[in-house]
Amino acid sequence: MTTLPRIGVLIGSLQTKGTSRKIARALQDILAPRLTLEIVEIGDLPLYNPERDAEDVPAWDAFRSAVAPLDGILFVTPEYNRSVPAALKNAIDVGSRPQGASVWASKPAGIVSHSPGMIGGFGANHHLRQSLVFLDMPAMQQPETYLGHSPMLFDDHGALIDGPGRTILTAFANALVAWVALHRPAAV
Ligand SMILES: Cc1cc2nc3c(=O)[nH]c(=O)nc-3n(C[C@H](O)[C@H](O)[C@H](O)COP(=O)(O)O)c2cc1C
Repeated sequence: MTTLPRIGVLIGSLQTKGTSRKIARALQDILAPRLTLEIVEIGDLPLYNPERDAEDVPAWDAFRSAVAPLDGILFVTPEYNRSVPAALKNAIDVGSRPQGASVWASKPAGIVSHSPGMIGGFGANHHLRQSLVFLDMPAMQQPETYLGHSPMLFDDHGALIDGPGRTILTAFANALVAWVALHRPAAV
């Protein structure tokens, strides 16, 4: 039996009924035959403080243990004040420490940003890329995926509507499969 590569999904918004989570679920469906997408929750992580590295912070430990064995990371995030939401940055910081024990290094990454406005979270997308460079995560460059007017891509039940949104996310998903295969050939 072949096991599919396991991709962790970090959702930048903590809203349980938010558009970010709908996008993540839509990508789970699109990718189901080819990649396993597992949402890693970040909402209950205490704010990172290096002074607490010496103590046992169970939520940090659990998060690091959940991420470490994964074959890649998908970030789905809205834009907050032209950057990523604090919860997502905190999760990235938690996973990056203690120094020398980062769980991120060499994991291939994909980014989908979105917003209700026209710009589609461009600022968040590129702020996130800046962190990924430092964390040594190969971040897929194309197709760039900035979903503008994102709430309109879903119906009243939260399902992805057939149309441009599905076309964009399907192209993104196809590229992500190839990106993971390129960087994690043993996992495919
Ligand atoms: C604190 C805050 C800051 C925001 N800043 C931006 C922004 O800079 N650019 C933008 O396009 N939308 C901004 N928004 C709108 C969010 O992108 C929007 O609420 C988004 O749909 C939230 O995603 P969600 O539905 O997954 O929670 C902001 C929202 C909040 C709450």
